[in-house]
Amino acid sequence: MVLKGYAAQCSKILAVAMLSLGAGATEFAPGEVVERFCAACHERGIANAPRIDQVSDWQSRLEMSSLEEIIARGWAGNRRMPPKGYCTRCTEEDFAAAVQEMLPEQLLP
Ligand code: HEC
Repeated sequence: MVLKGYAAQCSKILAVAMLSLGAGATEFAPGEVVERFCAACHERGIANAPRIDQVSDWQSRLEMSSLEEIIARGWAGNRRMPPKGYCTRCTEEDFAAAVQEMLPEQLLP
């Protein structure tokens, strides 16, 4: 009986926790994904990765593709860009937010 009550209490807490996360849930702090996963390659442009905040690196891509297409290709992986940039726990929202953090401000829509 006691155990059953405990389990019910736990699932109630879990349900509340899940509700408060809501849509676009993330377990990452702002900037954390870029720092922990993307910067390793995108900071210095390893293997031609477009560098963080470098207008010229991103502009040429944005001239050929929309931001949505660029995000989708990064998510799926493209040539030397690994799928999800190795952030396997990233949701699509986390990944899209990380891409936008790497873009120079003047190129953001
Ligand atoms: C192992 C190195 C590596 C890591 C880690 C990495 N990238 Fe990349 N990324 C690349 C390379 C290399 C390219 C260039 C691919 C090409 O176009 O040839 C790239 C390209 C991209 C592009 C452009 C896609 C396109 O087709 O225009 C996006 C967006 C991107 N990365 C996002 C991210 C994000 C977000 C993370 C972190 C979650 C990340 N990357 C982590 C190497 C990496």
